[in-house]
Amino acid sequence: MSEKIYDVPAEWASRAFVDDAKYRQMYERSVTDPTGFWAEHAKRVDWIKAPTKIDNWSFAPGNVSIKWFEDGVLNAAYNCIDRHLDKRGDQVAIIWEGDDPSQSRSITYRELHDEVCKFANILRNRNVGKGDRVTIYLPMIPEAAFAMLACARIGAIHSVVFAGFSPDSLAGRINDCNSKIVITADEGLRGGRKVPLKANVDAALKKCEGVDWVMVVKRTGAAVEMDDVRDFWYHEAAEVVTTECPVEHMHAEDPLFILYTSGSTGQPKGVLHTTGGYLVFASMTHQYVFDYHDGDIYWCTADVGWVTGHSYILYGPLANGATTLMFEGVPNYPTNSRFWEVIDKHKVNIFYTAPTAIRALMQAGDEPVKKTSRKSLRLLGSVGEPINPEAWEWYHRVVGEDRCPIVDTWWQTETGGILITPLPGATKLKPGSATRPFFGVVPEILDPEGNVLEGECTGNLCLARSWPGQMRTVYGDHARFEQTYFSAYKGKYFTGDGCRRDTDGFYWITGRVDDVINVSGHRMGTAEVESSLVAHPKVSEAAVVGYPHDIKGQGIYAYVTLMAGEEPTEELRKELVAWVRKDIGPIASPDLIQFAPGLPKTRSGKIMRRILRKIAEDEPSSLGDTSTLADPAVVDDLVEHRQNKH
Ligand code: WTA
Repeated sequence: MSEKIYDVPAEWASRAFVDDAKYRQMYERSVTDPTGFWAEHAKRVDWIKAPTKIDNWSFAPGNVSIKWFEDGVLNAAYNCIDRHLDKRGDQVAIIWEGDDPSQSRSITYRELHDEVCKFANILRNRNVGKGDRVTIYLPMIPEAAFAMLACARIGAIHSVVFAGFSPDSLAGRINDCNSKIVITADEGLRGGRKVPLKANVDAALKKCEGVDWVMVVKRTGAAVEMDDVRDFWYHEAAEVVTTECPVEHMHAEDPLFILYTSGSTGQPKGVLHTTGGYLVFASMTHQYVFDYHDGDIYWCTADVGWVTGHSYILYGPLANGATTLMFEGVPNYPTNSRFWEVIDKHKVNIFYTAPTAIRALMQAGDEPVKKTSRKSLRLLGSVGEPINPEAWEWYHRVVGEDRCPIVDTWWQTETGGILITPLPGATKLKPGSATRPFFGVVPEILDPEGNVLEGECTGNLCLARSWPGQMRTVYGDHARFEQTYFSAYKGKYFTGDGCRRDTDGFYWITGRVDDVINVSGHRMGTAEVESSLVAHPKVSEAAVVGYPHDIKGQGIYAYVTLMAGEEPTEELRKELVAWVRKDIGPIASPDLIQFAPGLPKTRSGKIMRRILRKIAEDEPSSLGDTSTLADPAVVDDLVEHRQNKH
């Protein structure tokens, strides 16, 4: 572990919203008087009716219920747009930078208002209203933002599905929440490559009964099939609607969106976020963590298909009246300088990206970075997976020229916003540590028996209290919500992450301790990949684990047992990779497949993943006790044929 420490630069301590003394004072208040603290900070959003009931939650077994600001009434789109119009109607709300460097577009708050109202009216004309679910399967184009905000405006619940997911994955998500409308584009464009989004929707809808409408945004102009009854073009529908659309009055606890995410078991879960608490938390964390001041140009490189795109491209920044950059492309197209060129082109001050991108660009050397200026940059951020100290140091020294603090922000789809993070004017930095809890956040580290550990320790990370941005339930399955997050440690939210706390009280996230793997900052359940593999006619059994990968953080390692008589060929290996790719999406492609005549099982038939993980990590000498296996001999074969031998 790196123990290098970077102190808060003096100019940061004096200009930031919060210095160390203020952090300590605000944090103290947030945990000793949470009701008073959040009553005060709820005022950062505009309420149609201000809340008088602030916090009302219970993590008690069998009775988990989470409510914040429950008697308040507001509208999230109003907060992200309308309330800014007087002061900043002509300020740019969204800078859109296309995949092709010659394409960009600036959208002012006034224009955003008009576009979102039109979009909302199109939806209302199709009878989409409060509480209806809308699936959005769009590339990173401004219409993705219009679509989400239009839903929020009319009280519909959006479910954004990352455009890299397969038709089957899309179908599962459409059906789970019964969307009656799907919004997509003819094609997406990423790194110069076209993605057949409309064709994917057509394929998905063969498995979905309830979809009445498909709205199609023209992006590349490719010829696509249009169903006469079901499908319509956005640009045509937009011609016949007005730019005024009254906002729906939403209770704080009315749902804002569903976002599917992978867990350790079964199919992805629909994480449900509601309106009031989410918006207060997303906007507050965006302001304090990024020390966002009026006029700053802010860029988060995530995709709106992930929670980071929801909270830190859209809702947080726009609720704060920020200028937020939305990027359609990828870090290495047309060249490895693209990120830094975009920063120079739009004079970006705050830049927020993922360790996997940093590691990939670091491998390309310093030159693609150094040929750009980056003098506008003031602050750097990292999210999605643990950042290794080498990548942190490179980001700090080469990209930030030693002058930009790095905020390493730990959070999850479930948490709605950032929970553990430095504040740039307050927190000294240790490369690889997410440092300290945000206001109102009470982390606890527990041992497997459920004892709360004190002081310096390592264990499983739980949260002892609710915060306003917390997910409220798994859509349609509250029992699964309780089971997944509140059953491991009674009365606490269990994050699924391992964590160390050092002598300064700083937190170091060590990665998932459950069967979730984090591939290039994307969450993938090993169970999902396994069920895809065993659906192949030649596969009898499969077990999937993560292993350390230089660029992706973790790679996907699959042990596959074939049906009797099937030959373990190189060709079949490729076929299985392609199979999973097609079934779930490219992000789920196994990196390594090992054909295994048998898997290590206990006498009761349980696969011992601990052993499979060690073999995948190329640590065959630390397998531990294998005497409880039904057939200890299978291990020798697995070790001998391991795919990650160094
Ligand atoms: C991991 C992304 C270490 C963690 C916002 C978590 C991190 C999972 C960090 C959530 C970080 C996220 N340091 N690990 N700064 N940020 N993670 O739901 O394992 O896509 O549980 O949310 O990513 O991934 P999700």
